[in-house]
Amino acid sequence: MTETTVTDLPTVPAADDGPPLRLVVVAASVREQRMGRAFAEWAAFRAAGDLEVDLVDCADCVLPDDAELRPGGSSGSPVAARIDAADAFVFVTPEYNHSYPASLKRLIDWHYREWMFKPATVLSYGVQGGLLATEHLRGVFAELHMVTTRRVVGLRTPWNDLGPTGYAPPPGVEAAFDAALHELTWWAGVLRGARRETPFARR
Ligand SMILES: Cc1cc2nc3c(=O)[nH]c(=O)nc-3n(C[C@H](O)[C@H](O)[C@H](O)COP(=O)(O)O)c2cc1C
Repeated sequence: MTETTVTDLPTVPAADDGPPLRLVVVAASVREQRMGRAFAEWAAFRAAGDLEVDLVDCADCVLPDDAELRPGGSSGSPVAARIDAADAFVFVTPEYNHSYPASLKRLIDWHYREWMFKPATVLSYGVQGGLLATEHLRGVFAELHMVTTRRVVGLRTPWNDLGPTGYAPPPGVEAAFDAALHELTWWAGVLRGARRETPFARR
């Protein structure tokens, strides 16, 4: 397990006291023999409680042909409404050839305003924790006016921790993920308020 240093948890309360914040957990891998669904299920289970959680699985998203892609978002996505309803995202992604999989890029590119001004964190996995996938995602999220949490979690060879009941994290993983979620939740409340009270106006 790889994690960023946990030293300074934010203590400022979220500037929003509306209905429960809604989290979408995105499962990025679509391989027939993928491990990722188990990690996404674990993340969704861990996040449920204060947050309303929806698991969007790229393997279940039959997106239109990329020939129909348009800049600034495209119509016809079967999951646009679920992404739009989210206040925050956890992307659960493997590292493929030192980046994130094409299935996730397609999901991202098929939407635009649905992502905007919302926070994200990343639960990556791979031989060394998959953090190169995360670092590539940070640049993509910035283009979409998203905020990525400072803390992210990278699972090293987590397939060794898979059992009949799913993913059984080794010591430290739960605390690291909770810290990332804590940061994410703070951003989710702040940005939900900001989207409502002071929506961004382009000059
Ligand atoms: C196309 C491909 C490329 C991969 N590249 C990497 C890599 O760059 N770094 C790494 O740590 N693991 C890499 N792996 C191994 C994956 O971490 C491992 O297969 C993992 O189970 C993939 O996640 P998934 O089962 O959810 O698809 C790669 C796997 C595939 C299929």
